[in-house]
Amino acid sequence: VRVAVLGAGYVGACTAAVLAEQGHRVVLADPDARRAGAVRRGEAPAYEPGLGDAIAAAVRRGALGATTDPVEAVRGAELSMLCVGTPPKRDGSQDLRFVKAASRQVGQALRGQRGWHCVVTKSTVLPGTTGGVVLPAVEKASGRRAGDGFGVAVNPEFLREGNALEDARAPDRVVVGALDEASAKAVWALYEGLACPKLTVSLGTAEMIKYASNAFLATKVGFANEVANLCRAIGLDAEEVMQGVGLDARIGPRFLRAGAGFGGSCFPKDVVALLRLGERERAPSRILKAVLGGNARQPLEVVRLARAALGSLEGKRVALLGLAFKPDTDDVRETRALPIYRALRAAGARVVCYDPHAGSGFRALAGSSVRLAASLGEALDGADCAVVQTEWAEFRALPPAEFVARMRRPLVVDGRRTFDPKAMRAAGVEYHAIGLGEPARSARARP
Ligand code: UDX
Repeated sequence: VRVAVLGAGYVGACTAAVLAEQGHRVVLADPDARRAGAVRRGEAPAYEPGLGDAIAAAVRRGALGATTDPVEAVRGAELSMLCVGTPPKRDGSQDLRFVKAASRQVGQALRGQRGWHCVVTKSTVLPGTTGGVVLPAVEKASGRRAGDGFGVAVNPEFLREGNALEDARAPDRVVVGALDEASAKAVWALYEGLACPKLTVSLGTAEMIKYASNAFLATKVGFANEVANLCRAIGLDAEEVMQGVGLDARIGPRFLRAGAGFGGSCFPKDVVALLRLGERERAPSRILKAVLGGNARQPLEVVRLARAALGSLEGKRVALLGLAFKPDTDDVRETRALPIYRALRAAGARVVCYDPHAGSGFRALAGSSVRLAASLGEALDGADCAVVQTEWAEFRALPPAEFVARMRRPLVVDGRRTFDPKAMRAAGVEYHAIGLGEPARSARARP
């Protein structure tokens, strides 16, 4: 299939690279000349493990090209995929500026053309958006009618940053929402080689599946965080508890890792958007409200643990390790490092931050006064406490003795269960972590 992918963010770039890998001919369009240029040179336009290699291979084979002109990309294609951003507005509602612009560009490209074309929304949009916004915008700009001049579909992405290529190559399921049979057929032609479950639904149902999935996963994490806080209070290890819980096939082991809360470009914004939709439609979600409240408090739990160990944070040197919202990405959107950083500073701590990839992004978010260390060692040198916010492999690889050798007080507060408590304590580290209670406490506790 000849495909135009509009938007070279991590979703667009990974989708384009994998479609090209699977035998389709893909042109990636992004008005940002740096992104389009990177793809043409065979480089990744966004940080994502393996993406550079995948793009280089596809470009070399001639299966993938890039342009800054979406109209040109769509003219040569049978199917276009909208992979543009849907950032939240101040009130939490969706900013559909880029979706509308991309729809208009597809429409302009279709004007006066003969062949049938299918427009596919991959961007995360609220139920009703593809039928109510994308479709009319394409009709208006093209002068053609949906259902006869062109097809419309929704094909939500479930790509985790840091794992996006693997998720695109071997998805758990593919969901296609389609206006009509021809549209469904056009999208399924992309996925013939995949053996996973495939679901064909209406446009709105496909849009809703994406929101409900992310909201459920966010709720799972939020629940794990609550259980972890309780376990710590009563002297139990939440990791063991959740291991036992996750072995129930009805629950499953994934997304039960407690930590400093969820961040990223999807969970927080999708949960807010679904919450707002529920309020507007008089079907409010009490659960999601609680999930967001808990997620706002969870990073402060880490600060509470640091304060409990140090007494006061005033004047203390604290190494904040990990600024990206999760490992293997440089993305700092909604990172829990920001509320942790602010709370530490507000309590008078001298904070030195370190992240292998997200330092400059975090500085842009938190302000130019952020002190960034050039290395993990430099961040730890002379620190009174280290707070771990992202479970980077680089941190895990550090021998526990290094904390003792470098820090003024070898105190580690682990917001992501990065380290083995036994190994850390055996090396002389004073180790505290989310969900890790002291057994002495539970032994004494009476029901
Ligand atoms: C998510 C969805 O998983 C993906 O399907 C969707 O398309 C985009 O949004 P992503 O934001 O890349 O992907 O990250 P994900 O791995 O889902 O993690 C989201 C947040 O939850 C991170 O901050 C992570 O640290 C946190 N998390 C995740 C936990 O705290 N515990 C867990 O067990 C899992």
